[in-house]
Amino acid sequence: MNKLYLWGIIITAAMLGFTYLSVGTSKGGLNGDIVNTLAVTGAVVLVIITVFVVIKYVRQMQTDTADGELAEESWDNIGEYKNPVPFGWAVMFLGTMIWGMWYWVLGYPVNAYSQIGEYNEDVATHDAKFNAQYASITGDRLVEMGESVFLAECKVCHGLAADGIDGQAANLNVRIQDKSVKYVVEHGSNNHILGSEMPMPDRNGLFNANTGALISDSEIDEVAKFVSGGFKDEKSAGAKVFAGVCSSCHGMDGRGMEYVAPNIREFTPTLVTNVLNHGKKGAIGTMPAFDRLNAKQKEAVGAYITSLSK
Ligand code: HEC
Ligand code: HEC
Repeated sequence: MNKLYLWGIIITAAMLGFTYLSVGTSKGGLNGDIVNTLAVTGAVVLVIITVFVVIKYVRQMQTDTADGELAEESWDNIGEYKNPVPFGWAVMFLGTMIWGMWYWVLGYPVNAYSQIGEYNEDVATHDAKFNAQYASITGDRLVEMGESVFLAECKVCHGLAADGIDGQAANLNVRIQDKSVKYVVEHGSNNHILGSEMPMPDRNGLFNANTGALISDSEIDEVAKFVSGGFKDEKSAGAKVFAGVCSSCHGMDGRGMEYVAPNIREFTPTLVTNVLNHGKKGAIGTMPAFDRLNAKQKEAVGAYITSLSK
């Protein structure tokens, strides 16, 4: 008998032995369960077939010699026979390509049912209903609605009193803090605060129209104090810097200009909605975008935040 078959029998016996040891002798064993018995029988059959198929091919490799016509090319002296493509393989190859095209164009991804799609449709329907039902809510009731959204979604970072919990998030009782103004003037800003792409240049793009020079370190300190202080001291050095450097975009009063620069004097519901739609990165940290709130909820929480600093 060929030595290989001997090894085959030894390996098979060993694997069956292990199977018996782990299944047959464990507590309860197969327990007369038909599913367990079928599974183990299947495993046994697979082991036997695998071992003997492997043996067949190993033997074939030992004795086989290939014949046929060699192709002209040879890569590093490795030749290739001119064998025709097997018919069944060619059919499967072309079939897979056709199926692939069907799948992408007509099948699942573009054209068919998806759970995510159904979820999105459900959410859209519900949001439309919600927006219609609460469309008439304005004024104080909108602020109350916003407060409840705030308590559910924003309190974890901004704190119960919306004061930013020791600097972990922005203090929403003031429009903007000193360090945030400094940071933005130094580094510029690209947070879609206007709702679209309209970045603010960094300090290398900020000229003082009164002096003709780039904004200086001391001017940054002064203007940050003026802006974070709520535009109060109109005679201060910071007010002069603001008029010279910032007012061309943010307006003389700091309330911004549509499509040019945002209101940096007070919050508005639109501004908060833009922050919720796009998130924000700044001196304090990263504020995530809030896709799960619908339009009315964003408007409401915007009204609530706007009401805090009044
Ligand atoms: C060229 C126009 C332009 C000038 C000049 C300019 N800004 Fe801005 N500023 C913008 C724009 C646009 C944004 C919004 C950027 C964004 O979406 O992140 C912005 C954003 C800001 C913000 C961030 C607001 C927030 O909520 O995070 C602050 C603070 C600010 N500017 C302060 C200043 C100060 C202070 C000056 C003057 C030293 C100044 N800006 C000059 C256009 C300008
Ligand atoms: C994971 C923590 C986190 C959550 C939750 C969160 N925020 Fe923020 N938020 C931040 C951080 C951090 C900043 C400061 C970003 C920066 O450095 O300018 C911020 C900034 C903001 C600003 C911008 C203030 C400015 O100066 O322009 C607004 C408005 C805001 N948050 C509103 C909200 C609202 C409304 C919610 C709830 C729907 C909320 N945030 C939930 C972390 C959070």
